[in-house]
Amino acid sequence: MPENLNQEKKAFYLTTPIYYVNDIPHIGHAYTTIAADVMCRYKRMKGYDVMFLTGTDEHGQKIQQSAAAKGLTPIELADRTVLNFRELWNALGISNDDFIRTTEERHHRTVQAIFKKLLDQGDIYKGTYQGWYCVPCETYVPESSMGEDKTCPDCRRPLQMMEEESYFFRASKYVPRLLEYYEKNLRGVMPRTRYNEIVSFLKSGVRDQSISRTTLKWGIPVPGDDAHVVYVWFDALINYVTACGYLDDPEKFRRFWPAAHHLVGKDIIRFHCVVWPIMLLALGVNPPVSVFAHGWWTVEGEKMSKSRGNVVDPFEMVERYGRDPFRYFLLREVPFGLDGDFSEAALVGRINSDLANDLGNLLNRTLQMVDNFCGGVLPASGPAGDLEREIAELAGKTVRDVDETISDFAFDEALKAIWTLIGRGNKYIDETMPWKLAKEGKEEDLHRVLNTLYDVLRLSSLLVAPFVPDTAARLWEQLGLEGDPLACSIDGFTWGERTPGLKVNKGKVLFPRIDMNEWKKEKAARDEQKAAPKAPAPAPEIPLEHEEAVEIDAFRAVELRVAQILNVEEIPKSKKLYKLSIDLGYEKRTIVSGIKEFFTPEELLGKRIVVVANLKPAKLCGVESNGMLLAAGDGKKTTLSLLTPDRDIPLGCRVS
Ligand code: MSP
Repeated sequence: MPENLNQEKKAFYLTTPIYYVNDIPHIGHAYTTIAADVMCRYKRMKGYDVMFLTGTDEHGQKIQQSAAAKGLTPIELADRTVLNFRELWNALGISNDDFIRTTEERHHRTVQAIFKKLLDQGDIYKGTYQGWYCVPCETYVPESSMGEDKTCPDCRRPLQMMEEESYFFRASKYVPRLLEYYEKNLRGVMPRTRYNEIVSFLKSGVRDQSISRTTLKWGIPVPGDDAHVVYVWFDALINYVTACGYLDDPEKFRRFWPAAHHLVGKDIIRFHCVVWPIMLLALGVNPPVSVFAHGWWTVEGEKMSKSRGNVVDPFEMVERYGRDPFRYFLLREVPFGLDGDFSEAALVGRINSDLANDLGNLLNRTLQMVDNFCGGVLPASGPAGDLEREIAELAGKTVRDVDETISDFAFDEALKAIWTLIGRGNKYIDETMPWKLAKEGKEEDLHRVLNTLYDVLRLSSLLVAPFVPDTAARLWEQLGLEGDPLACSIDGFTWGERTPGLKVNKGKVLFPRIDMNEWKKEKAARDEQKAAPKAPAPAPEIPLEHEEAVEIDAFRAVELRVAQILNVEEIPKSKKLYKLSIDLGYEKRTIVSGIKEFFTPEELLGKRIVVVANLKPAKLCGVESNGMLLAAGDGKKTTLSLLTPDRDIPLGCRVS
C-alpha cells in the first residue's frame, strides 16, 4: 500500500500481556493471544492500520529462581522458553506485528530513560522498603499470603522482617488525575464490573510503589545506581511503549499510542489499570484507551495447576483438533470477561454442532445443489421475495451486531450473531426445499434460493475470517472466489454482488464429524494412561561396590556446601582435568576436577554445585585443589551428572 494511503487509515494498537519465561505456555496464554489476534484481524478487515504486540517478560526473581533450579543462567532459560511461545503463536496462526523481549536492548534503554526522567522530575525518590522476607527463597512475602506463625508459603521456613533501600515511585500523587481520567473514559477499564472495582480501589488510596530491588541481580540496573535493579513490573509494563517507539520512533508513537488497548487477565488489572496509567500520567502521556480484563479458565471444574497435572497443553489441542476449532471454542464457549471451564468434551461438542453441523452443512448442501442443479455454475438470480428480503436484512443486522460486539470485546456474542445467520440459512433450505423446486422445474425460484444461500455463505466467510482464518480461506475457495477473505474489506461487502458465470469448487468436508462414542473410548484410554503410575525405568547395570557402614558423625564431619562455578580453565596436558574457580558465598576458591571428558566449559559456567568444602588441599597436575565437587556416575565412565540444588539457595549453604 502506498505510504500516503496508509497514513490516512485509522490506527489501532493492541497488546497482550508479556508472558513469563519460567514456564511453558498453556491455554491461559493462548486465550489472551487468540482474542487479541481475532480483534486485530477484524480491525485490519475494517481498514485500520493495526499494530499487534505480544512478547515475553524475562527479568525478575521468578525467572532467576527457575533458571537456577534448572542449572541454567536466566538468559539461557529465557532463550529456550521464548522459542516455545514463538512456536505456539505460529501453531495458532497469530498475526502479531512485533514480539518484544524485555531483555532486548531497545527495552533496556527505554526503561532506563523513563526511570531517569521520573527521577529527575522528582516522581521517583529513594527510601526504605520494609517487609517480611524469606531468606532461602530470597523473596518478600506479602502479609496476605504468609502462613500462620509468619512462615513462607513456599518453603514453610520462618520469615524475617527486613529493610532495604529502595527507589519509590510517587504513585499517590497522580491518583486524583487518574480518577478524573476514568470519570471521562468509561471504557478505560472493561468490562464495567472491573471499571467499578478499579475506581473504588483508587478511591481507597494508593501507596507509593517500591520499584527497585537490591536483593536481586537479574534485571535492568537503575541508571546511576548499579546496586539496584528495576522491579520487574515497572520494567515489564514499559514494554508497551518501548515497542510503540516511545524512545526511538516518535512518529510511530504519535500514530499508535493514542489508539492503544491492552488485553490482560483479571489477575493483573491493578498493575495495568492503576500503576501503569499513573506511570504514563507522570510521563505526560495519556493512559491507554482501554484495558480489557478477561476471566480465567478452570479445567473440568478444577483450578489448572501443574501439581494437579491438569494443565491443558495448547500444542496438543491444536494437533488433535486443529487450530481453528480450538480458537473458535475458546472464544465461543465463554463470555470474554467471565471465568470459564475447559473440557475436551465441550470442544468436541462444538466441533460437531457449530462447525460440522451448522457451518459445514450449509456449505455442503448449498454447493451440492449448485453442482446438481446448475452444473457447478452459480446461475443469475431472479428478483427477491419476502423471505429473501428478510434474510438480506438479517445479514445487514449481523454485520452491525458483529461490529458492535467485537468493539466491546464480546467475542462470544459476535459468534452467536454469525451463527444466527448461518442457522437462518439452513432453515431457509428446509423452508424452500430447492430439490423440490428443481423437480418441479421452478427455475427462477430455485436460482433465487441458491443465490441467497451463496450470499449467506460469502458474508459468513468474511465474518468468521478473524476467528477461523484457515476455515474462511477454504470456504472462500469452495465458493469459487479469488484471493484471501482476510484481505477483503468487511465494509466493501455488497449483498447480491456477483461475478457472472462464477464456478464453485465443492471440496472436502470442512469439519468431519467426530464419533462421540469412539471419542469417549479414546479419551478414557488416554486418561487411564495418564493416571497409571509410570512403569519404573529398567534398572541399569551399575557395578555395585558398597562401602562399609559409617557412623552419622563420620558423615557429618564432611562439610558439604553449595557453590557456583565462576570460571573454567583447561589444564595444559591434562585430558581429564579442569581448573575451576568457585564461589562459596563466604569465599572464592580453586578446585581441580576430573570432569573434562563430560562437560564443555560453557556447560559448567554459572552452574550451582555441591562441594566438599573441608577436603585437605591436594596438588593435581601442579595445581592446588581446595575441595571437590560432587557428581554421580555409572561407574563405567560413560556418563556423569553434577549434583546441583533444585532451587535458588544462597551460596555457602550447608548440605546435610
Ligand atoms: N508477566 C506478567 C505480565 C506482564 S504484562 C506487562 C504475567 N505473566 S504470566 O505469564 O504469568 O501470565 C500472563 C497472562 O496469562 C495473564 O494475563 C493471566 O491472566 C493469564 N492466565 C494465566 N492463567 C490463566 C488461566 N488459567 N486462564 C486464563 N488466563 C490465565 O502475569
